Formats: sequence, structure tokens, C-alpha cells
Amino acid sequence: MEIRSLWMFVVCFVLVAGWMAGTCESIRWLSLQHSHLNWNVSSVNNNHGRGIRSGIRSPCTLARRRYGLVKIQAKLCRHSMETMPHIQKAAMLASDTCREIFRDRRWNCSSITTAPFLTPDLTRATREQAYVYAISSAALVYTLARACSSGNLHQCTCASKPINSPTDSFQWGGCGDNVRWASQFSKRFIDNVEKHNLLKIEKTKRAKDLNEENDVFKNEVAIVNLHNIKMGRKLITASVHNECKCHGVSGSCNIKTCWKALPPMIKIGKELLQKFTTAKVVSQKTVERLEQKTKKKAVLSDELVYISKSPDYCTKDEKLGSFGTMGRLCNVSSNSLDSCRQLCCGRGYKTVVEEKIERCQCKIYNCCYVKCKVCRTMTQVHECL
Ligand SMILES: *[C@@H]1O[C@H](CO)[C@@H](O)[C@H](O)[C@H]1NC(C)=O
Ligand SMILES: *[C@@H]1O[C@H](CO)[C@@H](O)[C@H](O)[C@H]1NC(C)=O
Ligand SMILES: *[C@@H]1O[C@H](CO)[C@@H](O)[C@H](O)[C@H]1NC(C)=O
Repeated sequence: MEIRSLWMFVVCFVLVAGWMAGTCESIRWLSLQHSHLNWNVSSVNNNHGRGIRSGIRSPCTLARRRYGLVKIQAKLCRHSMETMPHIQKAAMLASDTCREIFRDRRWNCSSITTAPFLTPDLTRATREQAYVYAISSAALVYTLARACSSGNLHQCTCASKPINSPTDSFQWGGCGDNVRWASQFSKRFIDNVEKHNLLKIEKTKRAKDLNEENDVFKNEVAIVNLHNIKMGRKLITASVHNECKCHGVSGSCNIKTCWKALPPMIKIGKELLQKFTTAKVVSQKTVERLEQKTKKKAVLSDELVYISKSPDYCTKDEKLGSFGTMGRLCNVSSNSLDSCRQLCCGRGYKTVVEEKIERCQCKIYNCCYVKCKVCRTMTQVHECL
């Protein structure tokens, strides 16, 4: 992993140095899900200038080297290191949610865990990539908005009270999740990377460099990524709802205070799954129109979009980022996606008997002492051939 990410860093560095219109994907920060960096601002400041200024010991520099943060993100990290533990949490949340949602499918989102190294399923602008970009930006907004309202982030506060005055039945109060601040921050952390990519490609285009076909594709990928990132944010902004609390004499609910709150992330993940199933493939022409969205409004503004068709993910093909389903556990009694028929792609499965050793029949003695027996149980699992 270490060597791999170091290699990616070198590649990115060389690309940025201007050899060609290299792009550095804006989801590499998801690798922070594995990081053990210490984002303690005071420990860096106590470093007598050797920290932030020289960059030697700054966790932001380490994050850039090891975890694939791009230059813009490392800069933002230095300027607001307080947000970094939350960004790290967002990376975990995006990864956990995506893997939970896709658990029973052939493509099960496991490739999200290999960031900053990205397999082709997450670089070819596939439908799966669209989901990962959308859920990543949604998770970042979610985590930051919650951090604001829970008082864990001093750069922001509770959401400001909605303008529309409430009806007689309630009043605004409490502390709302600050989706607005979180969205602004996520634009700076994620969108700016893709925008920077677009500018870089524009520059090489003007310099009439070779490698044209490749640049055109990269340009399209950046536009599509940007669109899907925005979709994730749009969905989370739309999912804000009122949460209320009753006051008054012994639960009479005479007075009700309400605030704007986000639903659990898994719900947003499921809504995005709906968008995943209806995602639209876009042609070069449509991509161009996506880019000019500011002029012509609302091109596919409610859809996830992708460029490359995905394989069926049945067999291993590293070039396409397909891991294949050999060895995956399937469910013989299911009729849906995790059924052996569908998951194993008709290749069949083998039945393996597994012995489980568990503590069981536990009893409490003398109030505080628990004694258990050891049980052996046999379970059958089914593995795709
Ligand atoms: C941060 O570092 C300071 C000084 O090194 C230390 O006193 C403090 O406990 C640390 N805080 C956390 C959360 O680790
Ligand atoms: C997800 O798929 C990969 C590749 O097929 C497999 O190695 C992994 O065990 C799967 N994860 C789960 C939780 O099923
Ligand atoms: C298999 O599928 C059936 C039917 O959908 C379900 O009731 C059962 O819990 C599943 N088993 C496992 C191990 O997931």
C-alpha cells in the first residue's frame, strides 16, 4: 500500500509538473479512512515553526504524500486543520455506507478501500464511479454539517434559522445541521480539484500538445465527476427535514420547537442507489452541454451520469476494474441480487461447512460473574465457483 501510494504521488507530481494534462482524482482523500494521522493543531504549532512553515512534520504534508491529498486540499488542510478529523470521519462514512448499500451485489464497492490507488472501475467514468463521487461529497457535507451543530467544529455554528416563518404550531429553535456551511466547504475541498483539472487540460489544449484523444477523455471525466459531486450535494440538501421537540406542561406539547436536521446517512445512500439505477449514459455532445450548464440551465440536473459502460463484474478483468465473483458468499434461499444464481453468474457454487465456536448459555452468578459454555455449531455457507 505504502509503495503504491508513493508511486501515485510521484505520478501526480510529475503530471502537475506539466508533462501532460494529468489529472489528480478528487476522491483520493477517501484514503483517509485508513489514516492514523494526528490532527492536533496545538502539537503542530508547538513545533516552533518546523511544523506548518517548513512542512516537515505537518500532518497535511503527510496526508499529501501518503494519502493522496492533492495540492489544493493540502493547502486547505493547513488553513483549517480543525476540519481534518471530520474529513477523515467523512471518508469512513462514505466507505462504510457505499459498502453496506452494495454488499449483496457483484460490484460491492470494495474498490473504495484501495484509495488513494484507484482501480479502473473508479477512473473510467462508470456508473459505479458516479455513485462513489456522489456519496463522497454527500458524506463530507453530512459529517461537517453535523459537526457544526454538535459544537465540534469552531469554524461554524448551528444553521441560521430558516427565513420562512413557521405556522402557529411551532417555532424555530434548537440547533440545525449547518448544510450551507458544509456545502461551501465541500466545494472548496472537492470541486476545486476537478475544476483545477479542467483548467490544466485547457492549458495543454492551448499549447497544442499531443495526446489529444486522451485529453478529451480526461476533460469529459472531470466534467462528469463534477456533475455527480454536485448531485450528491443536491440530494443531501434536499433531504433536510424538520425535527421537533415538544415542550409544555407534562408533555402537552403546547410549545413545539423545530430545527432543520439531516436523515441518517444510510437513507441518503439508498436514495443515491435509486439514482444509480436510473443513471444516464452521456455522449460527448451532452458532456459539452453539461459543461455549459451555467448558460443553458438544467441539463440532466437530477441524474447521475456516466460515460463508460460497466462490465457485468462476473469475471476478473483488471483492465476494467472487475474483481469477479469467484469465492463470494451467496444465499441459496434468496431471489434477489445476493442469490447464488445471480451472484455466481450461472457458474454454480460449492457448499462449505464451517464450524463456529462461540460462547453460549451464559449465566450470571452472584450478581456480577458470568459463566458461559463453549458451543460448536456447524453452518453451511455457499461460495461462488
Ligand atoms: C494536543 O497536543 C497538546 C500538546 O501536545 C496536548 O496537550 C493535547 O492533549 C493534545 N490533544 C489531543 C486531542 O490529542
Ligand atoms: C466484495 O467483493 C470482493 C471482490 O469480489 C471480495 O473479495 C470481497 O470479499 C467482497 N466483500 C464482501 C463483504 O462480500
Ligand atoms: C438469505 O435470503 C433469505 C430470503 O431473502 C433471508 O431470509 C436470509 O436471511 C438470507 N440469509 C443470509 C445468511 O443472509
